[in-house]
Amino acid sequence: MRNFSKSFMLQSFIVKVAFMSLSAPASVLEIKQLTKHYGGVKALTDAQFRLLPGEHAAIVGDNGAGKSTFVRLITGVEQPNSGDILLDGQKVSFDSPLDAREQGIETVYQTLALAEDLDVPANIFLGREITRLNLGPLSILNHKAMREKSAAMLATTGVKIQDMSESLRGMSGGQRQCVAIARAAGFAKKLIILDEPTAALGVQETARVEEIIKGLKKQGIPLIIISHNLRQVFDLVDRIWVFRQGRIICSRLRRETNPEEIVGLITGAIDPASLKTQEAVAC
Ligand SMILES: Nc1ncnc2c1ncn2[C@@H]1O[C@H](COP(=O)(O)OP(=O)(O)OP(=O)(O)O)[C@@H](O)[C@H]1O
Ligand SMILES: [Mg+2]
Repeated sequence: MRNFSKSFMLQSFIVKVAFMSLSAPASVLEIKQLTKHYGGVKALTDAQFRLLPGEHAAIVGDNGAGKSTFVRLITGVEQPNSGDILLDGQKVSFDSPLDAREQGIETVYQTLALAEDLDVPANIFLGREITRLNLGPLSILNHKAMREKSAAMLATTGVKIQDMSESLRGMSGGQRQCVAIARAAGFAKKLIILDEPTAALGVQETARVEEIIKGLKKQGIPLIIISHNLRQVFDLVDRIWVFRQGRIICSRLRRETNPEEIVGLITGAIDPASLKTQEAVAC
């Protein structure tokens, strides 16, 4: 009888563990205790973060809260002092932004990183050109393939560019931003990070970029957006992560919060520990 009850307990434990691993969605990205100090400046301390499959998340916080530092650390621009980055459950480290790109993270920086004098296909395939013949420095580029693939990438984002062979110099800020996002969307294997994608854009161009982001949501591509624009944040994302004075103080599901609460968390007027729905509070 005793053996039976032991084996029953063991079986129900195994079933419970199996159920928990089935019911808890694995994170695309998980960050544990990420820390970056510049001498005495504590830019980021013990940051905990996770992004679920298909989830769109916003990073908000006042100037100097640590948002860009966080993005630089998770895209290989800088190395953390300590902490872990897990991509699809696997611990990773990025030596450079190129390394992060190769492992599936595409980032659109505020300073776009586009080449003004090149046309759209050359920009989209910058650093990963398609070649007809690859003989090291003597490789021959396959312009036709790059043109066709670029057109397809732009089509999936709904961006219309009349003359693909024109250099980016003649394009508006919005069109350039769309090219950068189309490039990120076309190559992202795991997730896209957008750093203030509409900060320098007008009303119509902002709307265009927001439509592209909504399209990426429909395609199930996970995305992180840094934005100071709370209207935009509430319009676009599932979850909001609040940074304050070099720490991630909490995350809130968009449907469980409101702009006033987020402002209170950003400014410190609201203590995250006072929030009722503990499940939505990450730290
Ligand atoms: N390379 C650096 N050397 C020294 N201090 C730095 C460096 N980079 C960032 N900091 C400091 O780290 C803190 C966080 O900066 P960070 O740029 O991450 O803030 P942010 O949240 O992106 O702000 P903003 O909204 O103004 O862009 C700030 O106090 C900043 O001065
Ligand atoms: Mg910043």
